[in-house]
Amino acid sequence: MPQELQAVLDLMPDEHRETVAGRQFWPGHLGGPQHGSQGCEVVAVVSGIGKVAAATTATLLLQRFGVDGLLFTGVAGGLGEGVKVGDMVVAQRFVQHDMDASPLFPRHEVPGYGQAHFDTHPEWTHALAQASQHTLDDLPTWLSADTVAAFHLQGAKVHQGLIASGDRFVATSAESDALRLALPDALAVEMEGAAVAQVCHDFGVPFAAVRTVSDRADDSAHVDFGRFVADVAARYSAQVVLAALAALSQPNAT
Ligand code: ADE
Repeated sequence: MPQELQAVLDLMPDEHRETVAGRQFWPGHLGGPQHGSQGCEVVAVVSGIGKVAAATTATLLLQRFGVDGLLFTGVAGGLGEGVKVGDMVVAQRFVQHDMDASPLFPRHEVPGYGQAHFDTHPEWTHALAQASQHTLDDLPTWLSADTVAAFHLQGAKVHQGLIASGDRFVATSAESDALRLALPDALAVEMEGAAVAQVCHDFGVPFAAVRTVSDRADDSAHVDFGRFVADVAARYSAQVVLAALAALSQPNAT
């Protein structure tokens, strides 16, 4: 979300803008002195909404900007039992819930790949899970007590597992029930991750993703989503990106 990007840009001392294919990319530096005097070299960008937009953005990051790997933050609807608004879900693998070339291929399998699931990079994912836990442990230091109380964020948890992506904002209980039936392991639903995972698989580069749960993908999803993005999501993203860069710079992280 643009609000998330702005919070990340606020941490970058020297970014400049490059526009490619209608997208604004922000190369610059981020993170502490452990990444060198200026921090770690990064390119920040909004993925765009939906699988095609995200796949194009990911491809440009890799081909045009030559990044070594992709770190994705964003929001998602909670699907798994106990996955609540304010929790964080670190992806271990992705699936496209709307991929269905049956009867030619099994449901969810991506034709040409012989697989439905695309794994994230284990070490980056471990670092991101650590970063997410630190972000939640430190919640009271970077989010106001009023916001924590308003969204019942006290006791927020980090989950790890499967995230489902598809070109649909899931905003009815009927839809989320159907997703739970089709993909019982899915912890959360969003609209981009599986596409970026597939692009990173094609290019053989590390990919890790974390989503903050903004809603429960049910009949009140649209209300919760708007409030959460405005008040909370941007702050989460900036915190977790900083913490992830610190975790990734530790020995054994990559
Ligand atoms: N991103 C955040 N909430 C979502 C939802 N309910 N469905 C799809 N993508 C989302």
